[in-house]
Amino acid sequence: MINLTGKTALITGGTSGIGKATAIDFIENGAKIIITGRNQHTVNETINELGDQAYGIVSDSGKMSDLLDLGNKIKSITPYIDILFVNAGFGKYAPIEQIDEAHFDEQFNVLVKGTLFTVQQMLPLMKEGGAIILNTSIVTEIGMSNSSVYSAAKSAVQSFVKTFASELASRKIKINAVSPGPIQTNYFDRSNLSQEQIQNMAGAVLPQVPLARFGQPSEVAKVVTFLASDASSFMHGTEVFVDGGFPKIK
Ligand SMILES: NC(=O)c1ccc[n+]([C@@H]2O[C@H](COP(=O)([O-])OP(=O)(O)OC[C@H]3O[C@@H](n4cnc5c(N)ncnc54)[C@H](OP(=O)(O)O)[C@@H]3O)[C@@H](O)[C@H]2O)c1
Repeated sequence: MINLTGKTALITGGTSGIGKATAIDFIENGAKIIITGRNQHTVNETINELGDQAYGIVSDSGKMSDLLDLGNKIKSITPYIDILFVNAGFGKYAPIEQIDEAHFDEQFNVLVKGTLFTVQQMLPLMKEGGAIILNTSIVTEIGMSNSSVYSAAKSAVQSFVKTFASELASRKIKINAVSPGPIQTNYFDRSNLSQEQIQNMAGAVLPQVPLARFGQPSEVAKVVTFLASDASSFMHGTEVFVDGGFPKIK
């Protein structure tokens, strides 16, 4: 049985989708949670919805000044955190011929720089026995057209899991990744794809998913909760796929 009572969790990008579903699941399992997002109104709206065990911070995971200030903001709420879910992110799509510097920087800033410095800045607030979960993606395992930058950024995050696992073992902080397949969130609407392109992508992806549907954010959240809890006490430096059986090219 999973029990997060007495634990405090930081979830980056907790205002919608997988992050918000995880916040709900953590609270249901007894945790206090702090979410981040870029917009004060959305953060406020979300914590009001989540109830009195939820706190919110406006912080942009793609901005170095916000990343360096995150620890101070957390300390105004709690002296330490037990669980860190680095989830904030989005994906943009372009064929190699159309990729420009802005497309590259935007995604690498949030997904790669944001992940690395979020972990770095939160480590001083984490106690022995803490748990870190990074959000990767099934795209690291396949060659998906138009996703060079997003896939490379998520592959960097996948790599962090292994290196950080080696570095954090002596502090007894476990780190793992959750790798979602296609999940029904705001992700696709917030990409640079038109509705028609989203439909075409869904049409191409769905036949490859043995369970023949998009996953729900709550189905990813349950796995994150498991990785955050003592139930996964001997898991370290690994990645759990939540993808309906999406075939991987190894
Ligand atoms: N949906 C999928 O199929 C899928 C598959 C694999 C991996 N993922 C990964 O799952 C994670 C969550 O995505 P989602 O599917 O739940 O999408 P979503 O519903 O769009 O949620 C994204 C969350 O990230 C936050 N966010 C985005 N950029 C941010 C930034 N620069 N700083 C702080 N917060 C930021 C958003 O908050 P604000 O907009 O309020 O700032 C929102 O709370 C992402 O890392 C994504 O790459 C998703």
